[in-house]
Amino acid sequence: MANIDRRDFLKTGSIATVGTYFAGSTKTHLMAAPEPEPAKPIAANDHIQIALIGAGGQGQGDTRLAAQVPGVKVVAAADCYNGCLEHAKELWGKDILATRDYNEILARKDIDAVIIGTPDHWHMQASVDAMNAGKDVYCEKPMIHVYSDGPKIIDTWRKTNRIMQIGSQRVSSIIYLKAKELLASGAIGKLNMVTVWYDRNSAMGAWQYTVPYDASPETCDWPRWLGTAPKIPFNPEHFFQWRKWKAYGSGVAGDLFVHLFSGVHLITNTNGPTRALSTGGLRFWNDGRDVPDVMMALYDYAQGFNLSVRTNFVDGGSESEGFVFTGSEGSMTIAGDSVSLSRVPREKEPGVRVNLFSMPIQRRMLEIYHEKYPVTYPTGPVLEGEERYVAPKGYSDSYHHIKNWIDAIRSREPVLEDPVFGFRAAGTALLSNVSYETGKPAHWNPDEMKLL
Ligand SMILES: NC(=O)c1ccc[n+]([C@@H]2O[C@H](COP(=O)([O-])OP(=O)(O)OC[C@H]3O[C@@H](n4cnc5c(N)ncnc54)[C@H](O)[C@@H]3O)[C@@H](O)[C@H]2O)c1
Repeated sequence: MANIDRRDFLKTGSIATVGTYFAGSTKTHLMAAPEPEPAKPIAANDHIQIALIGAGGQGQGDTRLAAQVPGVKVVAAADCYNGCLEHAKELWGKDILATRDYNEILARKDIDAVIIGTPDHWHMQASVDAMNAGKDVYCEKPMIHVYSDGPKIIDTWRKTNRIMQIGSQRVSSIIYLKAKELLASGAIGKLNMVTVWYDRNSAMGAWQYTVPYDASPETCDWPRWLGTAPKIPFNPEHFFQWRKWKAYGSGVAGDLFVHLFSGVHLITNTNGPTRALSTGGLRFWNDGRDVPDVMMALYDYAQGFNLSVRTNFVDGGSESEGFVFTGSEGSMTIAGDSVSLSRVPREKEPGVRVNLFSMPIQRRMLEIYHEKYPVTYPTGPVLEGEERYVAPKGYSDSYHHIKNWIDAIRSREPVLEDPVFGFRAAGTALLSNVSYETGKPAHWNPDEMKLL
């Protein structure tokens, strides 16, 4: 849902009422758009000047959205590849500062805040440097690359008193917030299981992003890009397809599971699981990567539910993703732009099995059963109903998430996804790698955010 058209958002942003209609037998509610834009223009001296550190795919997307928030100006970008720096100028003007060295950005007093869209192995250092330089920060998910990153970011955030938002946009989604409200209201009874999957069947889905024809040590600042990662000769695949190696990312856990855990933790109001058990393997994309392309993991939550999550990059059947919360009185599914409820009341009587026995015994058993459970007709519809809550057309959780950060920069109020939330989500996701690598269950204290 990224990259919305601004006019579309404004149009849908003006829808004030919530409609209800039937689509077949499903009762469908159209959710209200988030709060409308401020009516009066923001004074020039109240503009927030932002810069982008890591001007690749997601950084560009985030910054394009930020630039749509009234009163935000993009004034600089840092990146290690010339092609991205040149595109940043095409996007935000030839006068912006475009540099390979983000310290030049951090030194500028007129820059209030930065968006960090680097690969994961730079998240901690760039965030800490930016906050120490007095900048507010929007850092992409997963917040951490390795566990030791978490306390460093949280300590700096607390010490510097900066506004920091982590970029799991679903935390701001009205669909997820609706799901949270429905669960809390008892719509599916007591939650006992969460099932999540993220299956793909394409080269791009498996992170084989196109390497530009001009990638070279001249156009790419390879030593800077590597940072603290192991020193190896220039490798354009590592540069542009970094998710395939543990030195820079954390496989499907950090790329995809973390989104799902951000959502689950928001919706269930939990800090995280206590234990994970995972398995998987490299089944198809034997292209030199050192992370699995099939991974499944089970998690225990002290709140009394279990979670299963899987990613399959070799799903020859279909590409699909799903998010199902199962409770004692129903189930709740998040898919695309909606959340749906399905409730089937449990039978009020246990039923009776008689057909294995002789006919006289069968007859007598039925009599005994119906003395206790008299036959009553009609029994009423079994299906209590399906309900669906749909986001308005053009709704973007990514825009909402960025806007929440910009609003917080102005108000100094807390954001929706601070570094503590971000560490709990990413720490939980990475727990599946710990279990995968050790071949044993991995234990985590979600309140203290510590591996056990
Ligand atoms: N929220 C989401 O839905 C979402 C989606 C995609 C990616 N992401 C996250 O965004 C981040 C970036 O992913 P991407 O797909 O855009 O990667 P990318 O490779 O397209 O972009 C990363 C950019 O960072 C630059 N970079 C590396 N080190 C740098 C440094 N020290 N200083 C300045 N620039 C540096 C690289 O040159 C590159 O252009 C990742 O952490 C990823 O997990 C989030």
